[in-house]
Amino acid sequence: MEPKDEIKEKCDLKELIGEYVPLKPAGSDSYKGLCPFHGEKTPSFHVSPDKQIWHCFGCGEGGDCFSFVMRMEGMTFPEALVHLGAKTGVEIRRMTSTKSNLRQRMLEINELTQKFFAKVLSDSTGAAPARAYVNNRGIPPELVQKFGLGFAPDEWDALSKFLVSKGYKESELVQAGVSMKKKSGRGVIDRFRNRLMIPLRDHHGNTAGFTGRQMPGDDHGPKYMNSPETPVYNKSEIVYGLDLAKRAARTSGALVITEGNLDVVSSHKAGVENIVASSGTALTSAQLSLMKRYSDTIIFAFDSDAAGFEAAKKGMVLARELGMDLRAAILPDDVKDPDELVQKDPAKWKELVQTSVPIMEFLIAHVTRGKDLRKIDDKRAVAGELLPAISQMQTVVEREHWLQVVADLLSIDIHELRKAVDPVKTVEAKKPETKAKQERVQVSKLEKARRLLFGWATGSDEVFAKATDRLKAVLGEEDLWITLYNLAATTYDSTSQSAQKSYFSRIREALNGHPQQESLEALLDSSTLMAEQTFQNLPPQKVLEHVETLFALLESHAHKQGRDQLARDLRLAEQAGDTDAVARLLQQLQDR
Ligand code: UTP
Ligand code: MN
Repeated sequence: MEPKDEIKEKCDLKELIGEYVPLKPAGSDSYKGLCPFHGEKTPSFHVSPDKQIWHCFGCGEGGDCFSFVMRMEGMTFPEALVHLGAKTGVEIRRMTSTKSNLRQRMLEINELTQKFFAKVLSDSTGAAPARAYVNNRGIPPELVQKFGLGFAPDEWDALSKFLVSKGYKESELVQAGVSMKKKSGRGVIDRFRNRLMIPLRDHHGNTAGFTGRQMPGDDHGPKYMNSPETPVYNKSEIVYGLDLAKRAARTSGALVITEGNLDVVSSHKAGVENIVASSGTALTSAQLSLMKRYSDTIIFAFDSDAAGFEAAKKGMVLARELGMDLRAAILPDDVKDPDELVQKDPAKWKELVQTSVPIMEFLIAHVTRGKDLRKIDDKRAVAGELLPAISQMQTVVEREHWLQVVADLLSIDIHELRKAVDPVKTVEAKKPETKAKQERVQVSKLEKARRLLFGWATGSDEVFAKATDRLKAVLGEEDLWITLYNLAATTYDSTSQSAQKSYFSRIREALNGHPQQESLEALLDSSTLMAEQTFQNLPPQKVLEHVETLFALLESHAHKQGRDQLARDLRLAEQAGDTDAVARLLQQLQDR
Protein backbone atom coordinates (compact mmCIF):
# COMPACT_ATOMS: atom_id res chain seq x y z
CA MET A 1 0.00 0.00 0.00
CA GLU A 2 1.16 3.54 -0.73
CA PRO A 3 2.12 5.48 2.42
CA LYS A 4 -0.57 7.99 1.54
CA ASP A 5 -3.29 5.34 1.63
CA GLU A 6 -1.86 3.66 4.69
CA ILE A 7 -1.87 6.97 6.58
CA LYS A 8 -5.42 7.62 5.52
CA GLU A 9 -6.47 4.23 6.76
CA LYS A 10 -4.71 4.61 10.10
CA CYS A 11 -5.55 8.23 10.76
CA ASP A 12 -8.37 8.79 13.19
CA LEU A 13 -10.01 11.81 11.64
CA LYS A 14 -12.10 12.54 14.69
CA GLU A 15 -9.02 12.67 16.87
CA LEU A 16 -6.97 14.65 14.36
CA ILE A 17 -9.61 17.31 13.76
CA GLY A 18 -10.65 17.20 17.42
CA GLU A 19 -7.25 18.64 18.29
CA TYR A 20 -8.29 21.87 16.61
CA VAL A 21 -12.06 21.90 16.71
CA PRO A 22 -14.25 20.78 19.60
CA LEU A 23 -16.52 18.17 18.01
CA LYS A 24 -19.91 16.99 19.11
CA PRO A 25 -21.61 13.78 17.98
CA ALA A 26 -24.02 14.31 15.12
CA GLY A 27 -25.44 10.85 14.67
CA SER A 28 -23.82 7.48 14.26
CA ASP A 29 -20.09 7.92 13.70
CA SER A 30 -20.44 11.46 12.53
CA TYR A 31 -19.45 14.68 14.26
CA LYS A 32 -19.89 18.39 13.91
CA GLY A 33 -18.36 21.60 15.21
CA LEU A 34 -17.69 25.24 14.42
CA CYS A 35 -15.80 25.56 11.16
CA PRO A 36 -12.19 26.64 11.72
CA PHE A 37 -12.02 28.12 8.22
CA HIS A 38 -14.76 30.71 8.43
CA GLY A 39 -16.47 32.52 11.28
CA GLU A 40 -19.72 30.94 12.34
CA LYS A 41 -21.88 30.63 15.43
CA THR A 42 -23.80 27.46 14.61
CA PRO A 43 -21.85 24.38 13.57
CA SER A 44 -21.92 23.46 9.90
CA PHE A 45 -18.57 21.70 9.86
CA HIS A 46 -19.03 17.94 9.61
CA VAL A 47 -16.59 15.09 10.08
CA SER A 48 -17.16 11.49 9.13
CA PRO A 49 -14.27 9.35 10.44
CA ASP A 50 -15.83 6.31 8.86
CA LYS A 51 -15.74 7.81 5.38
CA GLN A 52 -12.50 9.67 6.14
CA ILE A 53 -13.91 13.00 5.06
CA TRP A 54 -14.75 16.40 6.47
CA HIS A 55 -16.87 19.10 4.92
CA CYS A 56 -18.21 22.49 5.88
CA PHE A 57 -21.64 23.31 4.56
CA GLY A 58 -21.07 26.92 5.50
CA CYS A 59 -18.03 27.73 3.40
CA GLY A 60 -17.81 24.69 1.16
CA GLU A 61 -14.34 23.64 2.30
CA GLY A 62 -13.75 19.95 2.66
CA GLY A 63 -11.50 16.99 2.01
CA ASP A 64 -9.52 14.32 3.82
CA CYS A 65 -6.89 14.23 6.57
CA PHE A 66 -4.23 15.66 4.26
CA SER A 67 -6.23 18.60 3.02
CA PHE A 68 -7.23 19.33 6.61
CA VAL A 69 -3.69 19.74 7.94
CA MET A 70 -2.61 21.50 4.76
CA ARG A 71 -5.32 24.13 5.27
CA MET A 72 -5.02 24.27 9.01
CA GLU A 73 -1.24 24.35 9.29
CA GLY A 74 -0.45 25.93 5.97
CA MET A 75 1.60 22.87 5.01
CA THR A 76 2.46 21.64 1.55
CA PHE A 77 1.35 18.13 0.66
CA PRO A 78 4.78 16.54 1.33
CA GLU A 79 4.85 18.29 4.69
CA ALA A 80 1.39 17.02 5.53
CA LEU A 81 2.55 13.54 4.52
CA VAL A 82 5.50 13.68 6.91
CA HIS A 83 3.41 15.24 9.67
CA LEU A 84 0.65 12.64 9.48
CA GLY A 85 3.16 9.87 8.86
CA ALA A 86 4.73 10.67 12.21
CA LYS A 87 1.33 10.77 13.89
CA THR A 88 0.17 7.45 12.49
CA GLY A 89 3.52 5.66 12.59
CA VAL A 90 3.76 5.26 8.84
CA GLU A 91 7.29 5.66 7.57
CA ILE A 92 7.81 8.19 4.82
CA ARG A 93 10.99 7.25 3.01
CA ARG A 94 11.88 9.88 0.50
CA MET A 95 11.30 13.58 0.65
CA THR A 96 11.19 14.89 -2.86
CA SER A 97 10.25 18.49 -2.26
CA THR A 98 13.33 20.67 -1.92
CA LYS A 99 11.31 23.26 -0.05
CA SER A 100 10.52 20.75 2.67
CA ASN A 101 14.12 19.66 2.66
CA LEU A 102 15.23 23.19 3.28
CA ARG A 103 12.74 23.64 6.10
CA GLN A 104 13.87 20.37 7.56
CA ARG A 105 17.55 21.41 7.49
CA MET A 106 16.72 24.74 9.12
CA LEU A 107 14.74 23.04 11.88
CA GLU A 108 17.58 20.59 12.50
CA ILE A 109 20.04 23.46 12.83
CA ASN A 110 17.73 25.18 15.31
CA GLU A 111 17.29 21.99 17.26
CA LEU A 112 21.04 21.46 17.53
CA THR A 113 21.58 25.12 18.37
CA GLN A 114 19.07 24.94 21.18
CA LYS A 115 20.77 21.84 22.59
CA PHE A 116 24.15 23.52 22.29
CA PHE A 117 23.02 26.64 24.19
CA ALA A 118 21.30 24.54 26.85
CA LYS A 119 24.42 22.48 27.41
CA VAL A 120 26.58 25.57 27.67
CA LEU A 121 24.22 27.03 30.27
CA SER A 122 24.20 23.93 32.39
CA ASP A 123 27.84 22.83 32.12
CA SER A 124 30.33 25.39 30.93
CA THR A 125 32.45 27.36 33.37
CA GLY A 126 32.07 30.48 31.25
CA ALA A 127 28.33 30.34 31.89
CA ALA A 128 28.60 30.81 35.66
CA PRO A 129 27.34 34.43 35.45
CA ALA A 130 24.44 33.25 33.31
CA ARG A 131 23.53 30.57 35.85
CA ALA A 132 23.65 33.20 38.56
CA TYR A 133 21.44 35.50 36.47
CA VAL A 134 18.86 32.77 35.88
CA ASN A 135 18.91 31.99 39.57
CA ASN A 136 18.54 35.66 40.53
CA ARG A 137 15.55 35.98 38.27
CA GLY A 138 13.98 33.11 40.15
CA ILE A 139 13.78 30.71 37.24
CA PRO A 140 13.95 27.16 38.61
CA PRO A 141 15.75 24.32 36.76
CA GLU A 142 12.44 22.69 35.73
CA LEU A 143 11.45 25.81 33.84
CA VAL A 144 14.90 26.19 32.27
CA GLN A 145 14.34 22.67 30.99
CA LYS A 146 10.70 23.16 29.98
CA PHE A 147 11.38 26.32 27.97
CA GLY A 148 14.71 25.07 26.64
CA LEU A 149 16.64 28.09 27.93
CA GLY A 150 20.34 28.29 27.22
CA PHE A 151 23.34 30.54 27.05
CA ALA A 152 25.25 31.83 24.03
CA PRO A 153 28.89 31.92 25.13
CA ASP A 154 30.88 35.11 24.82
CA GLU A 155 32.92 33.76 21.90
CA TRP A 156 33.09 34.59 18.21
CA ASP A 157 32.21 31.31 16.60
CA ALA A 158 31.73 28.53 19.15
CA LEU A 159 28.27 27.63 17.84
CA SER A 160 29.19 28.01 14.17
CA LYS A 161 32.16 25.67 14.56
CA PHE A 162 30.02 23.13 16.37
CA LEU A 163 27.36 23.14 13.66
CA VAL A 164 29.92 22.87 10.86
CA SER A 165 31.39 19.85 12.64
CA LYS A 166 27.90 18.33 12.52
CA GLY A 167 27.86 18.61 8.74
CA TYR A 168 26.04 21.86 8.09
CA LYS A 169 27.33 24.36 5.55
CA GLU A 170 28.19 27.88 6.60
CA SER A 171 25.67 29.18 4.09
CA GLU A 172 22.98 27.11 5.80
CA LEU A 173 23.90 28.54 9.21
CA VAL A 174 23.53 32.04 7.81
CA GLN A 175 20.21 31.10 6.23
CA ALA A 176 19.00 29.70 9.56
CA GLY A 177 19.91 33.01 11.19
CA VAL A 178 22.23 31.58 13.83
CA SER A 179 25.44 32.80 12.15
CA MET A 180 26.39 35.91 10.21
CA LYS A 181 28.87 36.39 7.38
CA LYS A 182 32.04 38.10 8.57
CA LYS A 183 32.10 41.74 7.53
CA SER A 184 35.59 41.30 6.13
CA GLY A 185 37.28 38.14 5.03
CA ARG A 186 35.71 34.73 4.70
CA GLY A 187 33.80 32.63 7.15
CA VAL A 188 31.02 33.21 9.65
CA ILE A 189 30.55 34.32 13.26
CA ASP A 190 27.82 33.56 15.76
CA ARG A 191 24.88 35.96 15.77
CA PHE A 192 24.25 35.65 19.50
CA ARG A 193 27.06 36.17 21.98
CA ASN A 194 26.94 36.48 25.75
CA ARG A 195 23.16 36.29 25.93
CA LEU A 196 20.58 34.26 27.78
CA MET A 197 18.94 32.33 24.98
CA ILE A 198 15.22 31.68 24.68
CA PRO A 199 14.13 29.37 21.86
CA LEU A 200 11.08 30.67 19.98
CA ARG A 201 8.96 27.66 19.23
CA ASP A 202 6.00 27.37 16.92
CA HIS A 203 2.77 25.91 18.27
CA HIS A 204 3.96 22.38 17.46
CA GLY A 205 7.02 22.90 19.62
CA ASN A 206 9.50 23.18 16.73
CA THR A 207 12.25 25.67 17.45
CA ALA A 208 11.76 28.28 14.76
CA GLY A 209 14.17 30.94 15.99
CA PHE A 210 15.71 32.53 19.06
CA THR A 211 15.66 35.63 21.17
CA GLY A 212 18.65 36.43 23.34
CA ARG A 213 18.63 38.67 26.43
CA GLN A 214 21.59 40.80 27.32
CA MET A 215 23.49 39.83 30.42
CA PRO A 216 23.46 42.42 33.21
CA GLY A 217 26.28 44.86 32.72
CA ASP A 218 26.72 44.14 29.01
CA ASP A 219 25.18 46.82 26.85
CA HIS A 220 26.19 45.59 23.42
CA GLY A 221 23.25 45.78 21.05
CA PRO A 222 19.56 45.75 22.01
CA LYS A 223 18.24 44.30 25.28
CA TYR A 224 16.67 41.48 23.32
CA MET A 225 18.21 40.33 20.05
CA ASN A 226 15.99 38.23 17.82
CA SER A 227 16.53 35.82 14.92
CA PRO A 228 16.00 37.37 11.51
CA GLU A 229 13.18 36.07 9.33
CA THR A 230 14.18 32.67 7.94
CA PRO A 231 12.45 29.91 5.98
CA VAL A 232 11.12 28.64 9.33
CA TYR A 233 10.85 31.83 11.38
CA ASN A 234 8.16 34.30 10.49
CA LYS A 235 7.77 36.63 13.43
CA SER A 236 4.25 37.71 12.52
CA GLU A 237 3.03 34.12 12.67
CA ILE A 238 4.66 32.73 15.79
CA VAL A 239 2.99 33.03 19.15
CA TYR A 240 5.53 32.56 21.92
CA GLY A 241 4.47 30.02 24.51
CA LEU A 242 1.54 28.62 22.56
CA ASP A 243 3.11 25.16 22.29
CA LEU A 244 2.90 24.89 26.07
CA ALA A 245 -0.31 26.89 26.52
CA LYS A 246 -2.57 24.93 24.18
CA ARG A 247 -3.90 22.39 26.61
CA ALA A 248 -4.44 24.81 29.50
CA ALA A 249 -6.14 27.26 27.12
CA ARG A 250 -8.60 24.59 26.02
CA THR A 251 -9.45 23.53 29.55
CA SER A 252 -9.66 27.01 31.06
CA GLY A 253 -11.32 28.57 28.01
CA ALA A 254 -9.01 31.57 28.01
CA LEU A 255 -5.58 32.59 26.84
CA VAL A 256 -3.57 35.31 28.59
CA ILE A 257 -1.43 37.64 26.49
CA THR A 258 1.54 39.34 28.02
CA GLU A 259 4.36 41.27 26.41
CA GLY A 260 7.55 39.58 27.49
CA ASN A 261 8.80 36.09 26.79
CA LEU A 262 10.16 35.77 30.30
CA ASP A 263 6.77 36.80 31.70
CA VAL A 264 5.45 33.61 30.15
CA VAL A 265 8.18 31.57 31.82
CA SER A 266 7.48 33.13 35.22
CA SER A 267 3.77 32.68 34.88
CA HIS A 268 4.25 28.92 34.63
CA LYS A 269 5.98 29.12 37.95
CA ALA A 270 2.75 30.45 39.43
CA GLY A 271 0.77 27.67 37.79
CA VAL A 272 -0.77 29.89 35.11
CA GLU A 273 0.09 28.01 31.93
CA ASN A 274 -2.52 29.38 29.51
CA ILE A 275 -0.27 32.27 28.61
CA VAL A 276 1.52 33.53 25.51
CA ALA A 277 3.66 36.56 24.68
CA SER A 278 3.18 39.17 22.01
CA SER A 279 6.96 39.75 22.21
CA GLY A 280 6.57 43.48 22.37
CA THR A 281 4.91 43.98 18.99
CA ALA A 282 1.34 44.42 17.77
CA LEU A 283 -0.48 41.12 17.36
CA THR A 284 -1.21 40.15 13.78
CA SER A 285 -4.38 38.52 12.57
CA ALA A 286 -2.38 35.38 11.77
CA GLN A 287 -1.33 35.16 15.41
CA LEU A 288 -4.83 35.83 16.69
CA SER A 289 -6.40 33.23 14.40
CA LEU A 290 -3.89 30.74 15.69
CA MET A 291 -4.84 31.58 19.28
CA LYS A 292 -8.52 31.41 18.47
CA ARG A 293 -8.10 27.75 17.63
CA TYR A 294 -7.52 27.11 21.30
CA SER A 295 -9.59 29.76 22.97
CA ASP A 296 -12.22 32.36 22.11
CA THR A 297 -11.37 34.48 25.10
CA ILE A 298 -8.16 36.41 25.43
CA ILE A 299 -7.04 38.19 28.54
CA PHE A 300 -4.61 41.05 28.07
CA ALA A 301 -2.26 41.47 31.00
CA PHE A 302 -1.59 45.17 31.43
CA ASP A 303 0.41 47.06 33.96
CA SER A 304 -1.61 49.78 35.61
CA ASP A 305 -0.19 52.68 33.65
CA ALA A 306 -0.59 50.53 30.56
CA ALA A 307 2.48 51.51 28.61
CA GLY A 308 1.75 48.52 26.44
CA PHE A 309 -1.82 49.54 25.89
CA GLU A 310 -1.27 51.50 22.69
CA ALA A 311 0.60 48.55 21.19
CA ALA A 312 -2.21 46.22 22.18
CA LYS A 313 -4.94 48.41 20.66
CA LYS A 314 -4.45 47.26 17.09
CA GLY A 315 -4.56 43.65 18.18
CA MET A 316 -7.83 44.33 19.98
CA VAL A 317 -9.53 45.57 16.84
CA LEU A 318 -8.39 42.46 14.97
CA ALA A 319 -9.44 40.17 17.80
CA ARG A 320 -12.92 41.74 17.87
CA GLU A 321 -13.21 41.21 14.14
CA LEU A 322 -12.50 37.55 14.73
CA GLY A 323 -15.35 37.52 17.22
CA MET A 324 -13.12 36.97 20.22
CA ASP A 325 -14.07 37.92 23.73
CA LEU A 326 -11.59 40.42 25.19
CA ARG A 327 -10.74 40.76 28.85
CA ALA A 328 -8.05 42.38 30.96
CA ALA A 329 -6.03 41.34 33.98
CA ILE A 330 -4.91 44.56 35.62
CA LEU A 331 -1.62 44.46 37.47
CA PRO A 332 -1.13 46.31 40.76
CA ASP A 333 0.41 49.79 40.63
CA ASP A 334 3.77 48.75 41.97
CA VAL A 335 4.66 46.06 39.45
CA LYS A 336 5.76 46.47 35.87
CA ASP A 337 4.91 43.08 34.43
CA PRO A 338 3.66 39.59 35.33
CA ASP A 339 7.23 38.47 35.97
CA GLU A 340 7.66 41.03 38.74
CA LEU A 341 4.36 40.10 40.28
CA VAL A 342 5.13 36.38 40.22
CA GLN A 343 8.44 36.95 41.96
CA LYS A 344 6.64 38.91 44.69
CA ASP A 345 3.35 37.09 45.03
CA PRO A 346 2.59 34.18 42.67
CA ALA A 347 -0.86 33.56 44.17
CA LYS A 348 -1.85 37.16 43.43
CA TRP A 349 -1.00 36.69 39.75
CA LYS A 350 -3.11 33.58 39.56
CA GLU A 351 -5.99 35.40 41.19
CA LEU A 352 -5.74 38.37 38.83
CA VAL A 353 -6.04 36.08 35.84
CA GLN A 354 -9.01 34.29 37.35
CA THR A 355 -10.80 37.54 38.12
CA SER A 356 -10.14 39.24 34.80
CA VAL A 357 -12.59 41.98 33.80
CA PRO A 358 -14.16 42.83 30.42
CA ILE A 359 -11.69 44.89 28.42
CA MET A 360 -14.15 47.82 28.37
CA GLU A 361 -13.93 48.10 32.10
CA PHE A 362 -10.19 48.46 31.81
CA LEU A 363 -10.49 50.83 28.88
CA ILE A 364 -12.89 53.07 30.78
CA ALA A 365 -10.64 53.19 33.82
CA HIS A 366 -7.67 53.89 31.58
CA VAL A 367 -9.14 56.74 29.54
CA THR A 368 -10.90 58.49 32.43
CA ARG A 369 -7.71 58.60 34.48
CA GLY A 370 -7.04 62.21 35.48
CA LYS A 371 -10.07 63.49 33.54
CA ASP A 372 -12.83 65.73 34.91
CA LEU A 373 -16.04 64.44 33.40
CA ARG A 374 -17.92 67.64 34.14
CA LYS A 375 -15.73 69.43 31.61
CA ILE A 376 -16.86 69.30 28.04
CA ASP A 377 -13.36 68.85 26.59
CA ASP A 378 -12.64 65.88 28.82
CA LYS A 379 -16.03 64.40 28.05
CA ARG A 380 -15.34 64.70 24.35
CA ALA A 381 -11.91 63.13 24.71
CA VAL A 382 -13.25 60.20 26.71
CA ALA A 383 -16.13 59.64 24.29
CA GLY A 384 -13.65 59.77 21.41
CA GLU A 385 -11.72 56.88 22.94
CA LEU A 386 -14.65 54.74 24.02
CA LEU A 387 -17.15 55.02 21.20
CA PRO A 388 -14.95 53.47 18.48
CA ALA A 389 -14.40 50.46 20.72
CA ILE A 390 -18.15 50.11 21.25
CA SER A 391 -18.85 50.41 17.57
CA GLN A 392 -16.54 47.45 16.91
CA MET A 393 -18.50 45.14 19.15
CA GLN A 394 -20.09 42.32 17.27
CA THR A 395 -23.33 41.84 19.17
CA VAL A 396 -26.15 44.27 19.85
CA VAL A 397 -26.39 43.11 23.45
CA GLU A 398 -22.77 43.98 24.11
CA ARG A 399 -22.99 47.31 22.28
CA GLU A 400 -26.13 48.39 24.10
CA HIS A 401 -24.73 47.37 27.45
CA TRP A 402 -21.61 49.49 27.09
CA LEU A 403 -23.46 52.39 25.51
CA GLN A 404 -25.59 52.57 28.64
CA VAL A 405 -22.51 52.45 30.87
CA VAL A 406 -20.82 55.25 28.92
CA ALA A 407 -24.04 57.26 28.75
CA ASP A 408 -24.28 57.14 32.53
CA LEU A 409 -20.62 57.95 32.93
CA LEU A 410 -20.78 61.03 30.73
CA SER A 411 -24.38 61.98 31.66
CA ILE A 412 -25.43 61.94 28.04
CA ASP A 413 -28.67 60.54 26.70
CA ILE A 414 -28.12 57.01 25.34
CA HIS A 415 -30.10 57.81 22.17
CA GLU A 416 -27.71 60.61 21.36
CA LEU A 417 -24.74 58.36 21.98
CA ARG A 418 -26.17 55.63 19.81
CA LYS A 419 -26.31 58.09 16.94
CA ALA A 420 -22.63 58.72 17.40
CA VAL A 421 -21.84 55.03 17.31
CA ASP A 422 -23.93 53.94 14.36
CA PRO A 423 -22.07 55.68 11.55
CA VAL A 424 -18.78 54.14 12.67
CA LYS A 425 -20.48 50.82 12.98
CA THR A 426 -21.67 50.84 9.42
CA VAL A 427 -18.16 51.56 8.17
CA GLU A 428 -16.13 49.34 10.42
CA ALA A 429 -18.24 46.53 11.72
CA LYS A 430 -19.96 45.84 8.46
CA LYS A 431 -16.80 44.63 6.77
CA PRO A 432 -16.56 41.24 8.45
CA GLU A 433 -20.29 40.75 8.01
CA THR A 434 -20.27 41.08 4.26
CA LYS A 435 -17.13 39.01 4.10
CA ALA A 436 -18.80 36.26 6.07
CA LYS A 437 -21.70 36.39 3.68
CA GLN A 438 -19.44 36.07 0.68
CA GLU A 439 -17.80 33.09 2.26
CA ARG A 440 -21.06 31.30 2.75
CA VAL A 441 -21.85 29.05 -0.14
CA GLN A 442 -25.40 29.63 -1.17
CA VAL A 443 -26.88 26.30 -2.09
CA SER A 444 -30.28 26.60 -3.71
CA LYS A 445 -33.17 24.38 -2.75
CA LEU A 446 -32.86 22.54 -6.03
CA GLU A 447 -29.14 22.00 -5.65
CA LYS A 448 -29.71 20.75 -2.13
CA ALA A 449 -32.28 18.27 -3.43
CA ARG A 450 -29.80 17.02 -6.05
CA ARG A 451 -27.11 16.53 -3.42
CA LEU A 452 -29.44 14.75 -1.06
CA LEU A 453 -30.61 12.40 -3.78
CA PHE A 454 -27.12 11.73 -5.05
CA GLY A 455 -25.82 11.09 -1.55
CA TRP A 456 -28.73 8.80 -0.84
CA ALA A 457 -28.39 6.89 -4.13
CA THR A 458 -24.65 6.32 -3.75
CA GLY A 459 -25.19 4.92 -0.26
CA SER A 460 -24.99 1.45 -1.81
CA ASP A 461 -24.71 -0.24 -5.18
CA GLU A 462 -28.21 -1.64 -4.83
CA VAL A 463 -29.90 1.69 -4.26
CA PHE A 464 -27.97 3.24 -7.09
CA ALA A 465 -29.03 0.43 -9.45
CA LYS A 466 -32.68 1.09 -8.73
CA ALA A 467 -32.51 4.87 -8.83
CA THR A 468 -29.99 5.43 -11.60
CA ASP A 469 -32.28 6.52 -14.47
CA ARG A 470 -34.41 8.78 -12.41
CA LEU A 471 -31.34 10.24 -10.76
CA LYS A 472 -29.64 10.98 -14.04
CA ALA A 473 -32.72 12.77 -15.27
CA VAL A 474 -32.90 15.16 -12.33
CA LEU A 475 -29.23 16.04 -11.95
CA GLY A 476 -29.53 18.71 -14.63
CA GLU A 477 -27.08 19.85 -17.25
CA GLU A 478 -24.21 21.09 -15.18
CA ASP A 479 -20.93 19.49 -16.30
CA LEU A 480 -19.81 18.67 -12.79
CA TRP A 481 -22.95 16.70 -12.03
CA ILE A 482 -22.79 14.86 -15.34
CA THR A 483 -19.15 13.94 -14.75
CA LEU A 484 -19.80 12.80 -11.20
CA TYR A 485 -22.82 10.78 -12.23
CA ASN A 486 -20.84 9.09 -15.02
CA LEU A 487 -17.98 8.25 -12.68
CA ALA A 488 -20.43 6.78 -10.20
CA ALA A 489 -22.10 4.80 -12.97
CA THR A 490 -18.79 3.29 -14.13
CA THR A 491 -17.76 2.50 -10.55
CA TYR A 492 -21.07 0.82 -9.87
CA ASP A 493 -20.67 -2.89 -9.35
CA SER A 494 -23.73 -5.02 -9.92
CA THR A 495 -22.10 -8.10 -8.42
CA SER A 496 -21.06 -6.25 -5.25
CA GLN A 497 -17.81 -8.19 -5.45
CA SER A 498 -15.73 -5.47 -3.91
CA ALA A 499 -17.98 -5.38 -0.93
CA GLN A 500 -15.20 -4.71 1.55
CA LYS A 501 -15.04 -1.18 0.18
CA SER A 502 -18.12 0.97 0.29
CA TYR A 503 -19.58 2.33 -2.92
CA PHE A 504 -18.77 5.81 -1.64
CA SER A 505 -15.05 5.06 -1.18
CA ARG A 506 -14.83 3.43 -4.58
CA ILE A 507 -16.34 6.50 -6.23
CA ARG A 508 -14.00 8.71 -4.27
CA GLU A 509 -11.00 6.67 -5.40
CA ALA A 510 -12.21 6.92 -8.97
CA LEU A 511 -11.88 10.72 -8.66
CA ASN A 512 -8.13 10.47 -8.04
CA GLY A 513 -6.15 12.25 -10.71
CA HIS A 514 -9.26 13.61 -12.42
CA PRO A 515 -8.62 17.15 -13.72
CA GLN A 516 -11.58 18.37 -11.67
CA GLN A 517 -10.78 16.17 -8.68
CA GLU A 518 -11.19 18.88 -6.05
CA SER A 519 -14.56 20.14 -7.19
CA LEU A 520 -15.83 16.62 -7.69
CA GLU A 521 -14.70 15.57 -4.23
CA ALA A 522 -16.39 18.58 -2.69
CA LEU A 523 -19.63 17.76 -4.48
CA LEU A 524 -19.51 14.07 -3.56
CA ASP A 525 -18.54 14.68 0.07
CA SER A 526 -21.15 17.34 0.68
CA SER A 527 -23.80 15.13 -0.93
CA THR A 528 -22.86 12.13 1.15
CA LEU A 529 -22.67 14.02 4.43
CA MET A 530 -25.87 15.89 3.74
CA ALA A 531 -27.72 12.67 3.02
CA GLU A 532 -26.23 11.04 6.08
CA GLN A 533 -27.31 13.94 8.30
CA THR A 534 -30.79 14.07 6.85
CA PHE A 535 -31.61 10.40 6.66
CA GLN A 536 -29.68 8.65 9.39
CA ASN A 537 -32.36 8.82 12.06
CA LEU A 538 -35.35 8.16 9.84
CA PRO A 539 -37.00 4.75 9.42
CA PRO A 540 -36.66 3.34 5.87
CA GLN A 541 -40.24 4.15 4.94
CA LYS A 542 -39.80 7.81 5.88
CA VAL A 543 -36.56 7.95 3.90
CA LEU A 544 -38.38 6.73 0.83
CA GLU A 545 -41.12 9.31 1.31
CA HIS A 546 -38.57 12.07 1.67
CA VAL A 547 -36.70 10.85 -1.40
CA GLU A 548 -39.93 10.79 -3.34
CA THR A 549 -40.66 14.42 -2.44
CA LEU A 550 -37.20 15.43 -3.62
CA PHE A 551 -37.58 13.59 -6.89
CA ALA A 552 -40.98 15.21 -7.38
CA LEU A 553 -39.53 18.66 -6.77
CA LEU A 554 -36.71 18.19 -9.27
CA GLU A 555 -38.87 16.44 -11.82
CA SER A 556 -41.45 19.20 -11.83
CA HIS A 557 -38.63 21.70 -12.15
CA ALA A 558 -37.17 19.78 -15.09
CA HIS A 559 -40.62 19.58 -16.58
CA LYS A 560 -41.20 23.29 -16.29
CA GLN A 561 -37.79 24.01 -17.76
CA GLY A 562 -38.56 21.78 -20.70
CA ARG A 563 -41.84 23.58 -21.28
CA ASP A 564 -40.23 27.00 -21.03
CA GLN A 565 -37.66 25.92 -23.56
CA LEU A 566 -40.36 24.71 -25.95
CA ALA A 567 -42.24 27.98 -25.54
CA ARG A 568 -39.07 29.93 -26.35
CA ASP A 569 -38.41 27.76 -29.41
CA LEU A 570 -42.00 28.28 -30.48
CA ARG A 571 -41.72 32.07 -30.33
CA LEU A 572 -38.53 31.94 -32.37
CA ALA A 573 -40.17 29.67 -34.95
CA GLU A 574 -43.15 32.02 -35.21
CA GLN A 575 -40.89 35.03 -35.68
CA ALA A 576 -38.99 33.16 -38.39
CA GLY A 577 -42.26 32.14 -40.07
CA ASP A 578 -41.28 28.46 -39.95
CA THR A 579 -44.77 26.96 -40.03
CA ASP A 580 -43.60 23.31 -39.92
CA ALA A 581 -41.61 23.95 -36.77
CA VAL A 582 -44.47 25.89 -35.21
CA ALA A 583 -46.83 22.98 -35.74
CA ARG A 584 -44.34 20.45 -34.37
CA LEU A 585 -43.56 22.53 -31.28
CA LEU A 586 -47.24 23.21 -30.58
CA GLN A 587 -47.90 19.48 -30.71
CA GLN A 588 -44.99 18.82 -28.34
CA LEU A 589 -46.27 21.42 -25.90
CA GLN A 590 -49.73 19.87 -25.90
CA ASP A 591 -48.30 16.39 -25.41
CA ARG A 592 -46.54 17.36 -22.20
P1 UTP B 1 10.48 44.59 27.98
O1 UTP B 1 11.56 45.59 27.80
O2 UTP B 1 9.25 44.96 28.72
O3 UTP B 1 11.19 43.35 28.58
O4 UTP B 1 10.07 44.07 26.53
P2 UTP B 1 10.81 42.25 29.66
O5 UTP B 1 10.12 41.12 29.02
O6 UTP B 1 10.22 42.82 30.89
O7 UTP B 1 12.29 41.78 29.92
P3 UTP B 1 13.12 41.71 31.22
O8 UTP B 1 12.18 41.28 32.32
O9 UTP B 1 13.73 43.03 31.45
O10 UTP B 1 14.14 40.67 30.88
C1 UTP B 1 8.99 43.21 26.27
C2 UTP B 1 9.28 42.34 25.09
O11 UTP B 1 9.62 43.13 23.97
C3 UTP B 1 10.57 42.49 23.16
C4 UTP B 1 10.88 41.18 23.84
O12 UTP B 1 10.11 40.14 23.26
C5 UTP B 1 10.47 41.41 25.26
O13 UTP B 1 10.15 40.21 25.92
N1 UTP B 1 11.81 43.27 23.02
C6 UTP B 1 12.19 44.15 24.01
C7 UTP B 1 12.61 43.11 21.92
O14 UTP B 1 12.29 42.33 21.02
N2 UTP B 1 13.78 43.83 21.83
C8 UTP B 1 14.18 44.67 22.81
O15 UTP B 1 15.27 45.27 22.69
C9 UTP B 1 13.35 44.85 23.91
MN1 MN C 1 10.29 42.02 32.83
